[in-house]
Amino acid sequence: MSDFFNSGWSNYISIITVVGIFACLWLLFSQRTIKVIREKDGSIAEDTGHVWDEDLRELNNPLPRWWMLMFLFSCFFGLIYLVIYPGLGSNPGTLGYSTKSELIQSMEAANNELKPVYDKYMGMSIEEVAADPQAKVMGQRLYLNSCAQCHGSDAGGSIGFPNLTDNDWLYGGTPEAIKTTIMNGRGGIMPSFIQLPAKDIVNVASYVRALSGLTSDSFKATQGEIIFRNNCVSCHGSNGKGNQLLGAPNLTDKVWLYGASQATIIETLTKGRQGMMPAQDKVLSPEKIHLLTAYIWGLSNQKSNMAK
Ligand code: HEC
Ligand code: HEC
Repeated sequence: MSDFFNSGWSNYISIITVVGIFACLWLLFSQRTIKVIREKDGSIAEDTGHVWDEDLRELNNPLPRWWMLMFLFSCFFGLIYLVIYPGLGSNPGTLGYSTKSELIQSMEAANNELKPVYDKYMGMSIEEVAADPQAKVMGQRLYLNSCAQCHGSDAGGSIGFPNLTDNDWLYGGTPEAIKTTIMNGRGGIMPSFIQLPAKDIVNVASYVRALSGLTSDSFKATQGEIIFRNNCVSCHGSNGKGNQLLGAPNLTDKVWLYGASQATIIETLTKGRQGMMPAQDKVLSPEKIHLLTAYIWGLSNQKSNMAK
């Protein structure tokens, strides 16, 4: 109701509502005087003039009293309700009630209830939190709410969205690196090499496949190595092992963000890739990010948890 641009609609709705209620009261008032008119023999005289089946007359009896009272009560209930609760256009009502404030109150109540729990975990290291069964359940719930839509409900990732359960990291798998990733977000920029001759693209793609031991044309791969030295080592490193400061993936392992086929690598090279991990520091509290960091760290450090 408070979303109206001006008071015009609010007034329009208020007037219709109030006029409607008073019209009901007037209707009731105007019908109140009907009395039962009886014949000398006691039978009811007045009817509506409708006759069915030759002698079945529709009588015009007054409304029953209990019904009149209920009707009156409804009208007055409506009027009182509109005075104390929001209902008349954008008028907030004398109680100042709103569903929004009710939501905020219940959220505050829930936060206050959880605060001691969150505070306890904030005082613990990521490794300790990761080993705590209750924290794991909370972390998983947070994960399913905020992260699963991109990284998958099992955190296994998909094309363009990294697997968070393995030990292969674009930006580093230490508790600090994971927390920085979640708080500030990440954006890896793999530039497009569309300017290179198509032959060079094919050759360097063959070299990339050879780096991780995949079958490729060895002549093309040798040619491609030159292209790689000239264009790619600044980010992917001279040995192709990547650079976590830039989020440039290790090209020598068997883990692929976008795919290992010659066609996919050529697509990566011609179109470029810009994976975006959205920053969470404005969305989630530091306490929740702490729990999530522990949850994510724990996913790929399961064995060390069990050893504790
Ligand atoms: C809109 C999709 C999206 C959402 C939501 C999202 N992520 Fe990501 N995340 C990505 C992408 C894409 C990347 C890879 C960024 C890149 O390619 O540079 C990434 C990267 C990461 C990484 C770095 C992985 C590595 O190998 O270094 C971590 C950790 C991570 N996300 C955790 C989370 C957590 C925890 C959440 C929930 C709070 C979350 N993400 C929510 C898309 C998302
Ligand atoms: C400016 C830094 C930079 C340069 C230069 C660069 N890359 Fe990349 N590359 C990246 C980043 C960052 C990613 C990850 C993109 C993402 O996170 O979405 C990437 C991703 C890739 C991938 C996808 C890997 C996968 O797991 O699917 C391949 C293949 C690749 N680069 C090959 C190359 C080749 C070949 C060259 C040289 C012709 C090159 N890159 C030059 C930064 C760079």
